[in-house]
Amino acid sequence: MEPINLGITADFHVHLRDGSMCELITPTVRQGGVAIAYVMPNLVPPITTKKQVEEYHRKLDILSSKTTFLMSLYLCKELTPELIDECKDLIHGIKCYPAGVTTNSKYGVDPNDFSSFYPIFEAMERNNLVLNIHGEKPGSDNDDINVINAEPRFLPALKKLHQDFPNLKIILEHCTTAESINLIRELNKDGKGTIAATITAHHLYLIIDNWAGNPINFCKPVAKFQNDRKALIEAATNGEPWFFFGSDSAPHPIHAKQQHVGVCAGVYTQNNAISYVAEIFDKQGKLENLKKFVSENGIKFYGLTKELEKHKQAVWLIKRDNKVPAVIGNGSIEVVPFKANDTLKYTIEWR
Ligand code: DOR
Ligand code: ZN
Repeated sequence: MEPINLGITADFHVHLRDGSMCELITPTVRQGGVAIAYVMPNLVPPITTKKQVEEYHRKLDILSSKTTFLMSLYLCKELTPELIDECKDLIHGIKCYPAGVTTNSKYGVDPNDFSSFYPIFEAMERNNLVLNIHGEKPGSDNDDINVINAEPRFLPALKKLHQDFPNLKIILEHCTTAESINLIRELNKDGKGTIAATITAHHLYLIIDNWAGNPINFCKPVAKFQNDRKALIEAATNGEPWFFFGSDSAPHPIHAKQQHVGVCAGVYTQNNAISYVAEIFDKQGKLENLKKFVSENGIKFYGLTKELEKHKQAVWLIKRDNKVPAVIGNGSIEVVPFKANDTLKYTIEWR
């Protein structure tokens, strides 16, 4: 197979952490074939001030100067419309975590009532910022909410947000169900192009059986059923403009993934991000649509233009055996990658 030019690739959902984990992980964005990375703010403490955004951005630039990092704030009651106006040129969006649904989400919001954040959403709308939503309801015995139905049960709230803010760009992050895919298609019938969903690499591979019993594959939202996985693969490989790549690569130290109780949610895919996705497109006979998914669709949705300028090299997809390491580490920390020890069919080169 001839190499395929994927252009300027983008991963619209990455976790780069801080401290020595950040030093280990940040350079792997480029190694995995990603030029532009949209960085999640769920550090401890979360990114909620202008100063934190600036400092984190500076640190990432030093760790990987050829990568473009797009920054975000963490939605919480400390944010004000004035702060949004002040940060409009430093960030591309704001991440909304319902409290209690995943790693470092405890400062997040009550997804049963977004009304107190409406002034923030108005400020975002006027500044053309994106609202990135972790679309799950927190588990509840009374409301019969669990890890399997948490995403479908969130969808009415997503629909209402889109109705109330039709011009606000909203992304349902790392969507995992056929219901979500159908809703994004349905809502896009309004022709506005303001609602989209990201899809991870690992949710194109995994179903419930693959994480029940294997904490390395445990993430939030959890991988669901065969019909869901099929819907995700179809949506990703089809080329529809409202579906694009956000890996949700979420590294945790090996010891935090290898325990029996209290396992951290998160699958680490960054060091081979594009290769994992390419293999799925290949199996579907849809490699011709890969560039839309990992580059064009998301870049268009976010309206990126000046962010592309510094990228003089493109990512090329090469058909060549590519063994996933058992672990990656820097002496102080070790992370197990997705599909560790497997041989992928594709690798990437920067040219
Ligand atoms: O699996 C996940 N891990 N899902 C998230 O939403 C957060 C992430 C993390 O930060 O580890
Ligand atoms: Zn995430």
